[in-house]
Amino acid sequence: MIGSGMTETYIEHRPGPFGPATAKPHSTTRRAVDGSALLKVYVGIDPEGRRRREAETVGRAVLRGLSAPVVLATGEGVAGSWTVFSMLPGTPCSIGAHEVVEEYIGHVLDVSGRLHQPAVDLTPGSGWERRQAGSVSQRQFLLDQLTSRCRRRPWWAVLEGFLHPLDSQPVVYLHGDLKPEHLLVDGERLHVVDWEASACGPAVVDYADVVFHLVRDLLYDGVPPERVPVELLTAMPFSGPVLAWRLLLWLDRRRPHDIDQLSSHDVSRLAGEDQPTAAYRALARSVALLRVAGVPR
Ligand SMILES: Nc1ncnc2c1ncn2[C@@H]1O[C@H](COP(=O)(O)OP(=O)(O)OP(=O)(O)O)[C@@H](O)[C@H]1O
Ligand SMILES: [Mg+2]
Repeated sequence: MIGSGMTETYIEHRPGPFGPATAKPHSTTRRAVDGSALLKVYVGIDPEGRRRREAETVGRAVLRGLSAPVVLATGEGVAGSWTVFSMLPGTPCSIGAHEVVEEYIGHVLDVSGRLHQPAVDLTPGSGWERRQAGSVSQRQFLLDQLTSRCRRRPWWAVLEGFLHPLDSQPVVYLHGDLKPEHLLVDGERLHVVDWEASACGPAVVDYADVVFHLVRDLLYDGVPPERVPVELLTAMPFSGPVLAWRLLLWLDRRRPHDIDQLSSHDVSRLAGEDQPTAAYRALARSVALLRVAGVPR
């Protein structure tokens, strides 16, 4: 691996040169013209923390039997924090039809089965590094990801109460951003990318992410709520409270007042639902209403 002293000039030539940039709110990616590498520049929220976390986690994911990109070069320079990853073959999963959703969920279970194995001495928090004793609880780790204004919302105490049982669940390694684009299918092999949100916490966080992304993306692509294939999602472990938390996390990161579109009643209905299909239907109905209210994807 090439260390952080390397300059952007160098990466323009080897392993580059790189083609056109794809800009997203929190990163810009560029593929090497020879197809061998991908340059990711981290922007916006905590770019240096995300760079370090992703570079550290990809190496450790391989040790857990997962195929992840190799870090070819990484550093912090005038253009920001960046990493060059080896390019992995394969096609990203999709959710465009019933059969491909079923395949995708199968791949999620394969990845999470390897990832969520019990591991000793893990403490909740972002990244996979070992933390000192005295760390936060599982519940606190989730609540801390919401901005401080959420504490003043009427649903805060409701959510906090529902999340209590998480504290007795095992702490496992999490990918932190499981979605179809991050699972590349290459024949019999599966490669997993985008590890910048990796964390340690309760396994249900990864599953809630899968459900949330799938429901939100189908609805924002115009699928009616009753057509979301919720029955396929029941193959994964379920937690109503974590699903409610995930929905609130999304709203908290949208327009300033979007967080106020959910009432305590909405939160407690979703968090208190113990039937997965009923909870996923309720989630789909809420997201459909939020979309109509103009909440950006
Ligand atoms: N090493 C790799 N090999 C092949 N494809 C990759 C690799 N890394 C990323 N990709 C593809 O490029 C896309 C963008 O990369 P990545 O997800 O890391 O960046 P991102 O900008 O953080 O994405 P987002 O914020 O939308 O999740 C991925 O969804 C994946 O399909
Ligand atoms: Mg990504």
